[in-house]
Amino acid sequence: MLTRTFFSLIILVLFTFSTSIGASGDPVRAENGMVVSASKLASDIGIEILKKGGNAIDAAVATGFALAVAYPTAGNLGGGGFMVIHLADSLNTTIDFREKAPKNAFRDMYLDSNGVYLPELGREGFTSSGVPGSVEGLLYALNHYGTMKIHEVIEPAIKLAEEGIVLEYRLAESISSNTNRFLEYPSSAKIFTKNGNPYEENDTLIQKDLARALQLISENGRDGFYKGHVAKLIAEHSKKSGGFITEQDLADYQCVERTPIYGYYKGFDIVTMGPPSSGGIAITQALNALENFNWEKSDWNSSEYIHTLVEILKRVYADRAEHLGDVDYYPVPVDWLTSKLYAQEIVTGIADTATPSEKVNPGIPIPEESEETTHYSVVDKYGNAVSTTVTLNSSYGNKIVVEGAGFLMNNEMDDFSAKPGTPNQFGLLGSEANSIEPGKRMLSSMTPTIVLKQGKPYFVTGSPGGSTIITVVLQTILNVIDFEMDVEQTLYAPRIHHQWMPDKIYFEEYGLSKDVIENLERRGHIMGNIRVLGRAEGILIFDDYFTGTTDPRGYGKASGY
Ligand code: DON
Repeated sequence: MLTRTFFSLIILVLFTFSTSIGASGDPVRAENGMVVSASKLASDIGIEILKKGGNAIDAAVATGFALAVAYPTAGNLGGGGFMVIHLADSLNTTIDFREKAPKNAFRDMYLDSNGVYLPELGREGFTSSGVPGSVEGLLYALNHYGTMKIHEVIEPAIKLAEEGIVLEYRLAESISSNTNRFLEYPSSAKIFTKNGNPYEENDTLIQKDLARALQLISENGRDGFYKGHVAKLIAEHSKKSGGFITEQDLADYQCVERTPIYGYYKGFDIVTMGPPSSGGIAITQALNALENFNWEKSDWNSSEYIHTLVEILKRVYADRAEHLGDVDYYPVPVDWLTSKLYAQEIVTGIADTATPSEKVNPGIPIPEESEETTHYSVVDKYGNAVSTTVTLNSSYGNKIVVEGAGFLMNNEMDDFSAKPGTPNQFGLLGSEANSIEPGKRMLSSMTPTIVLKQGKPYFVTGSPGGSTIITVVLQTILNVIDFEMDVEQTLYAPRIHHQWMPDKIYFEEYGLSKDVIENLERRGHIMGNIRVLGRAEGILIFDDYFTGTTDPRGYGKASGY
């Protein structure tokens, strides 16, 4: 069904493309503010906050809490994420509220006594959960950069949870496709099944326990989640299930405000997320290398363009595997990786034919399992912009609702490199830089990004998609800057992906013509399968108006006023 939906959307995309070459598409246009997220309800809640006079940070926080209710697939209280902020007074900053390994975690916790890697321990059950960061991150953003009180931004989410949300068919389908998984856990079955049966379109999903947890946060701030009732429920459920998270882990959790990664690409400044995300470094490395090439509009997805992009991506992802991890635990060579000088080295290594990744390491298949993260972009009339990506890792995280607390827990521990040379669920390899240590944050690919033009926000972008996030965000930026697409064309355009290992070019349906594929194969590239790549949410900003679009691959909404 989803495949069919996506297929029809792509037909629509192609139609839009074929009728709008060189012309503007039809994105949502607004003059005062815009919120683009994966949920219509959450985008509308964000816009209401802006209309009440809140700034982009207030709206982003309200949208974040609303997503925890209206988009349980990835919106969350039990996960983590990153927020990139540009303030009208030109300050740029980022908030890292990535989950942390519990204090009782240890390097080989997912290996058996013979050193054999047991991936299910890091992906399923409470053993897979890191200490959640979302609540702390959203509240930190609100307290430092917002203008409203907690109860004002959290109230709409409480109402949604209390009164229930009517399931639109794709969300109903997404929840119901996991019915069997939810049935494994009584606390999850109680909420995400209808007395054991799958949810259907137009059913109402009521989340009373979640409403109560939100209410406690509204009344007590971070302590409403990290101490007392909710913290006890998390720790008790974790203990009962053999998990590692304790009340002390929760009480100790802190988000970190970090300097962004800055890039400069063809006249635009790029403000993006640094470690423990790999995304900001990766897109900066790629853009530095790509700056050595000039493309015309007709080069878009040509074999020369794809060849260049893929060769750069192979090198960027190889560096990711070797050098990237939590900067608080490992000396990540950020300056070197993001330098223009190193980009020259990358460019020099690119030949006319493909350099096989297998020369370095054997290929590893990327599993087709469904996963979810979610991105939202917000701008206001004051000149502030916020780009946020949050995740539980897999769709619905580890599928475990904390008994009595009403929210799902993440399975983010799988983003660590549990055993060097062994890929995680996204086929990503890692090294010592991303090994498990107590209190350490697992490496991420989430890449919330703000592109500035003459110091002012120009494009706010980001996407889910596991390891593909980096290539998706990169292509949205290239589409805007190099190919001068409008926001709709940018987000609708089919994408490609390469992550060094496995040595394959993945691509979307209709993304590459037969000629281009044949040309790429002649140059030594190996084509992978066709798959859906990302689900970006973007806003393009002009002098006196905004244009925004949700990705047709999802079912979100651009709300503006
Ligand atoms: O942080 C990361 O890179 C992953 N946990 C993100 C997972 C994800 O995007 C799944 N969604 N499609």
